[in-house]
Amino acid sequence: MADFDANFDFNQIIPRKGTGSRKWDAVDTVFGSADVLPLWIADMDFASPEAVTRKLIERASHPIYAYNTQEASLYQAFINWVKRRHNWEIEQDWILLAPGVVPSIVLSILALSEPGDGVIIQPPVYPPFFDSIKDNQREIVENPLIENNGRYEIDYDDLEQKLADPKNKLLLFCSPHNPVGRVWTRAELSKVYELCQKYNVDVLSDEIHSDLVYSEHKHTVFASLGTPVCKQSVTFMAASKTFNVAGLNLSFIVVPCKRRRALIKAEINRLHLNRNNLFGVLASETAYAEGDAWLDGLLEYLEKNADTLVDFTEKRLPKVKVVKPEGTYLAWLDFRAYFSNAKELDDFLVQKAKVGLNSGKTFGRQGEGFARINLATQRSVLLEALVRIEKALEAVSDTL
Ligand SMILES: Cc1ncc(COP(=O)(O)O)c(C=O)c1O
Repeated sequence: MADFDANFDFNQIIPRKGTGSRKWDAVDTVFGSADVLPLWIADMDFASPEAVTRKLIERASHPIYAYNTQEASLYQAFINWVKRRHNWEIEQDWILLAPGVVPSIVLSILALSEPGDGVIIQPPVYPPFFDSIKDNQREIVENPLIENNGRYEIDYDDLEQKLADPKNKLLLFCSPHNPVGRVWTRAELSKVYELCQKYNVDVLSDEIHSDLVYSEHKHTVFASLGTPVCKQSVTFMAASKTFNVAGLNLSFIVVPCKRRRALIKAEINRLHLNRNNLFGVLASETAYAEGDAWLDGLLEYLEKNADTLVDFTEKRLPKVKVVKPEGTYLAWLDFRAYFSNAKELDDFLVQKAKVGLNSGKTFGRQGEGFARINLATQRSVLLEALVRIEKALEAVSDTL
């Protein structure tokens, strides 16, 4: 099995149209055009590890899909994974299960803040961060990242000001960061940690992309900065991005502090969310137990895609700016040299280039003039998208 997954062919095209794939089958509704090549929503065009598929088929062949238990082996596989891949030691008691990371963020906001409280975010950032705050009657407080020649950094002075305001109760942190692809260094995380400790602000750390980090970078779990663990942290992780099983709806909330854990658990119980998808449980456990070789192959492939993007852009789209992501399979393209507003750029990408990327403006006003591209596809598909953009830019550049 490990051999099969180690030799997995990521170049193989697996048609997804007609499989109920949001990325491929909702193109018409999302972009208003059916002939758009989709490189948007964050899932992958690759098959999950063979071990996962085999486990699901084996279980699906038993025709009763009724209420399931939550096996200790699931927790153990996750505990072993975070120790092995992130050198983070956690206890089973700290873990809560949930049907996804965004629902977990909402549950934690509800549990650890009151209506009217401020929640700090660092835009440009994953769009549901805004909604999870606003839709629950909390206030969005922006600590925008600073862009320095395409590379993004944290504005610590501004962060300190926001943390010092007693109305602001939580920092919703994205690590690694979607969409800018930063893998925060230990030094950067330590500064955030110290400031949050100083002002007694809890950190909701979304680490869903933590397994997707490229060769020269290393993910540090925010909670591991404490001694021995940061009690003011809640960490969100899942197999969903790493192993392409987002449709199976399972994620982990790690809460080392007993009091905070009880509050989040009470929200889970209040909403009767304390049961989980049978197939999500099996897929996550199997992926964490047997997925290392496959993931190592995936990371190698994705990093080459990131290099291909940067190389192509430098040589053939020189006015488009991109910095190689340090982690995540997402890249943040700066089209500001061509387009002065988001609508012009979005119309150009869909109508002229016929590619479906995520509009930068959905990541906050800082994203105007940017688009996010999803690199988790076969290299031939990525190259086709880039050639489409190149040709369309050539065609319009006389008129710009
Ligand atoms: C930072 C971040 N958090 C959460 C999610 C989605 O999590 P889920 O599907 O488990 O709600 C994504 C998906 O793109 C993401 O990028």
